Amino acid sequence: MINKFQTFYRHIIDEERKIPEATGQLSDLLADIALACKIISLEVNRAGLIDILGFTGDENVQGEAVKKLDVYANDILTNTMKSGGHICAVCSEEEEEFIPLEDKYILNNSISNKYICHFDPLDGSSNIEANISIGTIFSIYKRVSQGGPGTLGDCLQKGIEQVAAGYVVYGSSTFLVYSAGQGVHGFTLDPTVGEFLLSHENIQIPKKSKTYSINEGNYCKWSKGMQNFIDYLKEEDKDTNRPYSSRYVGSLVADFHRNLLYGGIFIYPSDKKNKNGKLRLMYEANPLAYIIEQAGGRASTGKERILEIEPQTLHQRVPLFIGSEEDVMLAEKFLAAEE
Ligand code: AHG
Ligand code: MN
Ligand code: MN
Repeated sequence: MINKFQTFYRHIIDEERKIPEATGQLSDLLADIALACKIISLEVNRAGLIDILGFTGDENVQGEAVKKLDVYANDILTNTMKSGGHICAVCSEEEEEFIPLEDKYILNNSISNKYICHFDPLDGSSNIEANISIGTIFSIYKRVSQGGPGTLGDCLQKGIEQVAAGYVVYGSSTFLVYSAGQGVHGFTLDPTVGEFLLSHENIQIPKKSKTYSINEGNYCKWSKGMQNFIDYLKEEDKDTNRPYSSRYVGSLVADFHRNLLYGGIFIYPSDKKNKNGKLRLMYEANPLAYIIEQAGGRASTGKERILEIEPQTLHQRVPLFIGSEEDVMLAEKFLAAEE
């Protein structure tokens, strides 16, 4: 039970104050992201009303185009980033190319746009109409170029270079999780005051779990090692706490969030059809890998650490094994055994 009342903004400012050279810009940037997510959350809650209110065509009653929720979320996030003035480029799963941004103002004799942001604006989009939890994932890097609009080199950095990352789940409540390198913290949106309030301080994932999350319908397309691992988890053995339970929502953020709190391993492996799996390195794997490592868990491709992958393109895909450390290590052993 947390008996101190702390807003998200208060928390990030307190964290940043511990770093003597900090300018407060990262706090402002995180606050901008939280604001954009509150706006998205409102729209998510209205999603089912669109048909009832008659906004069925491509235009609403005001003659404005009715946007799909994923496009809407992308617009809110990119526009918030453009007006905030803290970043030199935005990269989004919804955009083919990165969006370079000019410096807006000079701050303490230095450039103000010193960060890069990557977003998966709406994760789990196939679940929107079924009223199932969906989310937003974000990731922040420091620019490497010196001033001016950001470059592709700024945007294509290894995951270990992230300075902060997080996600918001739009579920039974709206929940924000973030890390800026000093632990993982969770905040629940109080809709009455419109603030994210600290509800989960210093989240740590259990080292070993009893749950796996994977789209098992793809079993026939997996490698032998992958099939053997899941077969193993389903066998009965009291000593090793098997069989495991299976939980799969189909929204990465929701599956990841449950596993973070209760323990578990989420897997989206490569298969015969998709050699690099389905999920995106820059928008999904890297931010969640950063969070899971901060929470004492592990993230890999089954062979190498996600955060050390040298990115080649903005939208590249990567197999993902992420969650409780011992479970991810066990999966890696099964994959190594097939070689
Ligand atoms: P997005 O909605 O951003 O495109 O991501 C969908 C992803 C992810 O959220 C989820 O874990 C995965 O797709 C589910 O894929 P399958 O339907 O193949 O299981
Ligand atoms: Mn996604
Ligand atoms: Mn998406």
